[in-house]
Amino acid sequence: MASYYTFLSLHILGATIWAGGHLVLALTILPDALRQQRAAIVSQFEQRFERIGLPALGVQIVTGLWLAEHLLGSPDHWFEGNSVARVVQLKLGLLAVTVGLAVHARFRVIPKLSDATLPTLAWHIRIVSLAAVLFVLAGASIRFGGYPVFRH
Ligand code: HEM
Repeated sequence: MASYYTFLSLHILGATIWAGGHLVLALTILPDALRQQRAAIVSQFEQRFERIGLPALGVQIVTGLWLAEHLLGSPDHWFEGNSVARVVQLKLGLLAVTVGLAVHARFRVIPKLSDATLPTLAWHIRIVSLAAVLFVLAGASIRFGGYPVFRH
């Protein structure tokens, strides 16, 4: 019980940092940078945010996998057809999209980042932010037994 409370609390704290930081970036910092056509505004924010954002994502992954095991048992049960397993599958899919975009941005887009290429990075930021919100909505639904749409 104590470890469930600890892992869930760390998971929620990590969610506030990851989702909150990305919403600030996507909704306030990015529009300013695009309006002023200054990529440096985004890179300055990202350099500071990644010090806390990347550890937060790491915490999400470790605690999320632990919570999934707590609820569903070993990973061979995570791909069954019940509604909680479907939410875990959705979260693993969102994780693949998030990590894929982050790796692409870090190694392909950011090294060539300039005021002219900022719109490409902007799409990465918007999709990762949307995925962060979907992570929260999917996670919160688990307490209600998963999405009704997944029930049968
Ligand atoms: C940045 C990524 C993530 C965010 C923002 C996030 C967010 C959340 C939130 C807000 C909750 C609701 C907590 C509550 O019930 O009060 C939650 C629950 C949960 N998350 Fe995540 N999550 C993320 C990644 C993951 C990953 C990678 C997994 C593993 C597959 C995962 C598995 C779970 C599980 C199993 C729960 C249910 C916990 C419970 O109610 O017992 N999450 N998540």
